[in-house]
Amino acid sequence: MRLGVCYYPEHWPEDRWTVDAQQMAQLGIDCVRMGEFAWSRFEPEPSVYDWAWFDRAIDTLHAAGLGIILGTPTATPPKWLVDRMPDMLACDEHGRPRRFGSRRHYCFSHAGYRAECRRIVSEMTQRYGRHPGVVMWQTDNEYGCHDTIESYSDAAQSAFRDWLKRRYTDIQSLNSAWGTVFWSQEYRSFDEIDAPAATVTEANPSHRLDYQRFASDQVVSFNREQVDLIRTHSPGREITHNFMGAFTAFDHHKVGADLDLATWDSYPLGFLDLSPVPEEMKQTWLRQGHPDFQAFHHDLYRGCSPKWGVMEQQPGPVNWAPYNPAPLPGMVRLWSLEALAHGADLLSWFRWRQAPFAQEHMHAGLLRPDGEAAPAFDEAGQVARDLTHIDGTHTTPAKVAVIFDYEGQWTHMIQPQGAGMDLLRQTFEAYMALRSLGLSVDILPQSAALADYALIILPGLPIVDETLAQQLTSGQQTVLILPRTGSKTDQFHIPDALPPHRLQDLAGLTVTRVESLRPSIRETVTWQGTEIEVVNWRETVELANPEQTNILARFEDGSPFWLQQDRVHYMTGWLEPFSASLAFDHVAKQAGLETHALGLSLRLRQLGEITFAFNYGLETLSLDTVVPETARFCLGGLDLPPAGVAAWRS
Ligand code: GAL
Repeated sequence: MRLGVCYYPEHWPEDRWTVDAQQMAQLGIDCVRMGEFAWSRFEPEPSVYDWAWFDRAIDTLHAAGLGIILGTPTATPPKWLVDRMPDMLACDEHGRPRRFGSRRHYCFSHAGYRAECRRIVSEMTQRYGRHPGVVMWQTDNEYGCHDTIESYSDAAQSAFRDWLKRRYTDIQSLNSAWGTVFWSQEYRSFDEIDAPAATVTEANPSHRLDYQRFASDQVVSFNREQVDLIRTHSPGREITHNFMGAFTAFDHHKVGADLDLATWDSYPLGFLDLSPVPEEMKQTWLRQGHPDFQAFHHDLYRGCSPKWGVMEQQPGPVNWAPYNPAPLPGMVRLWSLEALAHGADLLSWFRWRQAPFAQEHMHAGLLRPDGEAAPAFDEAGQVARDLTHIDGTHTTPAKVAVIFDYEGQWTHMIQPQGAGMDLLRQTFEAYMALRSLGLSVDILPQSAALADYALIILPGLPIVDETLAQQLTSGQQTVLILPRTGSKTDQFHIPDALPPHRLQDLAGLTVTRVESLRPSIRETVTWQGTEIEVVNWRETVELANPEQTNILARFEDGSPFWLQQDRVHYMTGWLEPFSASLAFDHVAKQAGLETHALGLSLRLRQLGEITFAFNYGLETLSLDTVVPETARFCLGGLDLPPAGVAAWRS
């Protein structure tokens, strides 16, 4: 795993650059990301470029032995550009333009802005593409940050109509796909169609799903334009984009397919504070972050691209959550090593030095604003030393696959049918249950090859495609299907023969009724003498082959909850987290997997032959029950202190 840091030479006097570069190299840093917000310095006036200062910055860092990751600056178009082309601004759903003065103020569909992006990226890649210090490129910065995927500008409207024409060819196909006969929504031509915004009550869900698909495709093609230029002018350099946490507004699998390495920006404390979890949970993990949130995204983004990494790792308090606590001592190291344990190729801290001005002046760095070391500085150095004990190992596929899909997430978001229910949340909850059993997990798209997995979990994927259905039907793996799987067609209809649609034969059942449950409702199910609890969702099913279906658990009224037909399990309700761990443990053991009851704070991850253990809690934990006698420790030992990391070969 390479270590990196995000650096903004334009924020600091030039005579400090050499000091910074040497300090970075001494700390054990391998590469530096920069440039992604510097358009106004690269091109202060239209077509007047000033690269000289950036040449010197790159040369200074390169001379210290550091590799350079160059960000294209298209997330921050300068003021002169916006003034020349005001209709490039993205618009909110009432058509109001978003204004200049922060960042990401562009519409992905604006042809003129696209041309400007190609121009600045061509200039930049031609100038630096073959520089020996340049090792990687990052396209733009965090597509979608600050709610910027959907735009309702004129440019977006017209691009949407073109997109619909390509998808449906004739308007009658669109009318039937969207069911526009309902409420007299029928269209006579593609030019009559608006974006699904500011309607009186909810817009047509098929219309909304197509708008999301369109908006996502705009991101894919925007990114691809930059990727193509970089590949032309900077051969042999890797290309990445930095994704975000809990963010699903575009299809990361599709963007990831054009990248060499998917990276993401990991802010464990900021995310926890912003997330809709109960206050008590925020308190428990206040300075550590949620024990599964980081790992979940590592595994999700590993499934998006051949390699993956963390481009921005939180080093201390951030500025953007309602409350911004400091990490527990040791946590910056733990988060960094956890990325390693999940097979990261790059771990880069954001940022090198806290800026004393502008929007993020309260955001910590490895250095304080006065240039002295902040608490994370020593932890970063410790990570570099730790890495010398863990060499020559890379990740191998896990035995458990969880299938996640962006279209599925949009489908649930557009029509949740139960407040707070969405595919990302369901996937995360299934993932938490698996992690609490000590299992390593891959989170994969529907198209992934699944033959080598022992257990495959579908946590409510509404649109199951043919490829996945066929793989599951012809495979030998244990499959666990959770409620809402196969509940929609790709046109957002209920399948003709009802859910679970293409998995009906595999599961041996038909879902005939669904209901969502208020948060206060808990339905008890008795399984092997233990009571487990169903929350949020409940389905009624009819069995295709009652004599071949084993009913492992029933609701109090006798209706089936947990059904098993051969190697396929189906649950007709959503389990609360502790119950999910118990039930998944049973399924995992049937799939031949070894599990551990880890409790809340301890987490394990397998990296090749090495097992890692992480303590997210505030008490020292003993690893007695999980470490085999033959183990040889490369990091830590049997007692794992708070924020402690251990790693062993066995
Ligand atoms: C990220 C972004 C960075 C910086 C950081 C602050 O979302 O990519 O530029 O703003 O957050 O935590």
